[in-house]
Amino acid sequence: MQNFEFHNPTKIVFGSATIPRLADLVPGDARVLILCGGASAEKNGTLAEVRTALGERLVQEFGGIEPNPTYETLMHAVEQVRREKLDFLLAVGGGSVIDGSKFVAAAVNFPADPWEILLSHGQQVASALPFGTVLTLPATGSEMNSGSVITRRATQAKLAFMSPHVFPQFSILDPTRTYTLPPQQIANGVVDAYVHIIEQYLTYPVGGMAQDRFAEGLLQTLIEIGPQALATPDDADVRANLMWVATLALNGLIGSGVPQDWATHMIGHELTVAHGIEHARTLAIVLPSLLNVQRADKRAKLLQYAARVWQITSGDEEQRIDEAINRTAQFFESLGVKTRLADYGLARAAIDPLLAQLEAHGMTAIGEHQNIDLPVSRKILEGAL
Ligand code: NZQ
Ligand code: ZN
Repeated sequence: MQNFEFHNPTKIVFGSATIPRLADLVPGDARVLILCGGASAEKNGTLAEVRTALGERLVQEFGGIEPNPTYETLMHAVEQVRREKLDFLLAVGGGSVIDGSKFVAAAVNFPADPWEILLSHGQQVASALPFGTVLTLPATGSEMNSGSVITRRATQAKLAFMSPHVFPQFSILDPTRTYTLPPQQIANGVVDAYVHIIEQYLTYPVGGMAQDRFAEGLLQTLIEIGPQALATPDDADVRANLMWVATLALNGLIGSGVPQDWATHMIGHELTVAHGIEHARTLAIVLPSLLNVQRADKRAKLLQYAARVWQITSGDEEQRIDEAINRTAQFFESLGVKTRLADYGLARAAIDPLLAQLEAHGMTAIGEHQNIDLPVSRKILEGAL
């Protein structure tokens, strides 16, 4: 196993009817900014509960954080925090609202243009405002990690930053808040969490026995509950398990001490920024083709994945790998998430511009061996046509 440090300071408050806990989780004298997305949190009553729990505190609100949150929108929140001398952020929403709040938290006291936070991948962040979250969409794991992905509309860049200063202080995970999610968002959440696990697991063996078994258990749980979350949308146990699995998928635990491969995400980000395809759907397009193109490097883990996650034991090694990749794509398709570029109206002509974007964003040596260069990315995209 590789050397590692693991530190996760986020307190999780899990279960139904836990939003009133905000009354003691948020400091009594805090000057609070609630950040949220479009209309969903207002419509389903989550915001009303949050406002009630915050009681007499000074509370302002900033709505309109879009899916794939933008620098342009978030800078208005930064200005509001500075102008009104607010000192505590509360994100109410999915990954986009939480990621956006992390950016605002880091940007408020940042001494230069906050876009530098993204260009330096978070290295220049020396402090951030404290914040908590109320999660309404199980998918990204942002509620218990220190990562954030921000889009700059003007330059068509979707970049990530990480900083130990932007762990949420706490996250409230109330599975009943997910009941109003449309099926498409539930399917997206299952696929996003699945790919997060794969990208920390399906590399090469380093003897991380617990990490491997944890990852395989989480994948098998998603295979079991993903279809149930769509078929029986008001099953509380299924929603609770989905929410906790998505959090565990990317809170740093299963990725500690093992190699990681974030190439699917990096290529996927370019598909979102260029063509507006939802985050999880970009992953469903890229991952099966990437596993196929990288099958030599990932051979031992692909065979382990085939045997332990999909119980594929017959056929020669190449056949078992093929079947594992096919089963993965079929799983996404069974949730209603299409896996080919053509399904999203994209053909071969789309590939060159995507490669140019990867190059512009420095994504020319990605994957666990940094050997996914532009020609390999081309093969991956061609394999996804
Ligand atoms: O804007 P509103 O009206 O709230 O509607 C949202 C949005 O349209 C809706 N929604 C959320 N909760 C709801 C609800 N609708 C009904 N009922 C509810 N309870 O869902 C839509 C999508 O929301 P969004 O937050 O964009 O989705 P998600 O959680 O999938 O977040 C995606 C973003 O997270 C980034 C992605 O790149 C993307 O920008 N990621 C962040 C990561 C991290 N910080 O670690 C890792 C991920 O890989 C990912 O890259
Ligand atoms: Zn993701």
